[in-house]
Amino acid sequence: MTHALLPGHPHFSYRDDVLFAEGVSLPALAQQFATPLFVYSKAAMLTALAAYQRGFAGRNAQICYAMKANSSLGVLQVFAQAGCGFDIVSGGELARVLAAGGQADKVIFSGVGKTPAEMRQALSAGIGCFNVESEAELDVLSEVALTMGLRAPVSIRVNPNVDPKTHPYISTGLKDNKFGVAHEDTLRIYRHAASLAGLKVVGIDCHIGSQITDTTPYLDAMDRVLDLVDSIEAAGMVLEHIDFGGGLGINYNNDTPPQADALWAQLLARIDARGYGHKKLMIEPGRSLVGNAGVCLTEVLYVKPGEHKNFCIVNAAMNDLPRPAMYQAFHAIVPLQPAKPSATEARYDVVGPVCESGDWIGRDRNLRVAAGDLLAVMSAGAYCMSMASNYNTRGRAAEVLVDGDQVHLIRERETATDQMRGEHLIGR
Ligand code: LLP
Repeated sequence: MTHALLPGHPHFSYRDDVLFAEGVSLPALAQQFATPLFVYSKAAMLTALAAYQRGFAGRNAQICYAMKANSSLGVLQVFAQAGCGFDIVSGGELARVLAAGGQADKVIFSGVGKTPAEMRQALSAGIGCFNVESEAELDVLSEVALTMGLRAPVSIRVNPNVDPKTHPYISTGLKDNKFGVAHEDTLRIYRHAASLAGLKVVGIDCHIGSQITDTTPYLDAMDRVLDLVDSIEAAGMVLEHIDFGGGLGINYNNDTPPQADALWAQLLARIDARGYGHKKLMIEPGRSLVGNAGVCLTEVLYVKPGEHKNFCIVNAAMNDLPRPAMYQAFHAIVPLQPAKPSATEARYDVVGPVCESGDWIGRDRNLRVAAGDLLAVMSAGAYCMSMASNYNTRGRAAEVLVDGDQVHLIRERETATDQMRGEHLIGR
C-alpha cells in the first residue's frame, strides 16, 4: 500500500491514492454522511496543542482555546478534556463551554461589547477573568458585580500598536482598530480600574491579530506589554498574570509560521529577562489549534467550461466556507480519490451554488474533475463552521470527528425545518 503524507496536514494522508483522516477513509465518510461534510482529526488537534504544551513545560501557564475558531461541542470537549480553558466572546459561547464540560474558572471573556446580561451570566458562572476593552466597560462591569455582591476579576486589553502584517480585517493591535486601550492611556485606566469597588485587577492582556506568520510582531508586542507591566507595578498594582492572546498562523499555502514551541521559547526568554518569569502566563490560540485539523468534503455538481474561465461547481458554498469571499483567503483543494476516466484536466474556478459572484472557494486551480467527484477543501477546521450561515436557506453542513478508526458524528446536517424553527407566519 502506498502512503503519502500531505505536507502541513498531519494526520491526513493518501493511502493508495485515497485520502484518509487518521484511520478513516474520507470517500467512505462522504458516502455515509453526504456532503458538504466537515471532518476533524482529534489527533491533529492534540498535536497542535502539544506544541504549546511543550513550549510551556514547567511554567505556570494556562492555554485558553479561542473557541470562536470552532465552537462545535465535540471540538470543545476535546480541548476541555485536555485541560484547556477557553477564550469566549459572548454569553452563547459560555453556554457552549459549560455544555461541553469546560471549567468556568478557566474561562476568559474577551470582546469590546459585553452586555450587562452577559456580565451577570459570566459572574454567576464564576469565570476566571474579564478582558476589558474600554473605560466605560470597566464602570459597567463594576456596577454589575456590586449589585451581585461580587468583585469581577479583570485584565485590561492593551493595544501595543504593532503591525502584525496580516490581512487588514484580521489585524487588531493597530491604533486604528476598535480593540483594546491605547498604550499611552493604559496606566491611567489601570488606576481607574483599581479604584472601582466591584473590580479586582488580576492581569494584563493583548492580542495583535490573526494568521500571523512572522515572529517579529510578537516580540515587539511582548516588549511593549512588559513595559506596561513595569509601569503598572511601579504604580503599586500587582498583576497576577500576563495574557498574550492568540494569532499564530497556520500553513494554508506555503506559509511558514513559527512553531508554537519555538515562538514561545523566544517570548519566554524576553519575559524571563525582564524578571516576570514567575507570573502566570495565559494565551488564547484559536486557528493554530484547529485550522489544519479539519477539512470540508464537497462533491462536484457540474463542470462548466467557458471562453475565459472554466467553472467547477461544487455543493459547498460561501455559507459553509466564508473565508475566500470575506478575506480572499486561500484553501488548498485536493481530490479524495483518483479522477474518473471521463474527467478533464483544466484550470478551474471552484465555486458554490450561492447566488453571488463572491461565492468562490478557489480560483485558477488545476484540477482533473468530473461531475460526481469528491474534493477536500483543506485547512477548514478554523473559522469555517463557526462562521457558517444559512444564506440562500442552505442548511449548515454536518460535522464528524475522527479518532483513530473511530467516527463520531458531532453535528447533524441542518434541515429546512431546523432553519424555520422559531419563525412565525403573520396570520391571515
Ligand atoms: N483572542 C482574541 C481576543 C481574538 O480576537 C482572537 C481572534 C483570538 C484570540 C484567536 O486568534 P487566532 O489564534 O485564531 O488567530 N475570521 C478570521 C479570523 C478572526 C480572528 C478574530 N480574533 C479568519 O477567518 O481568518
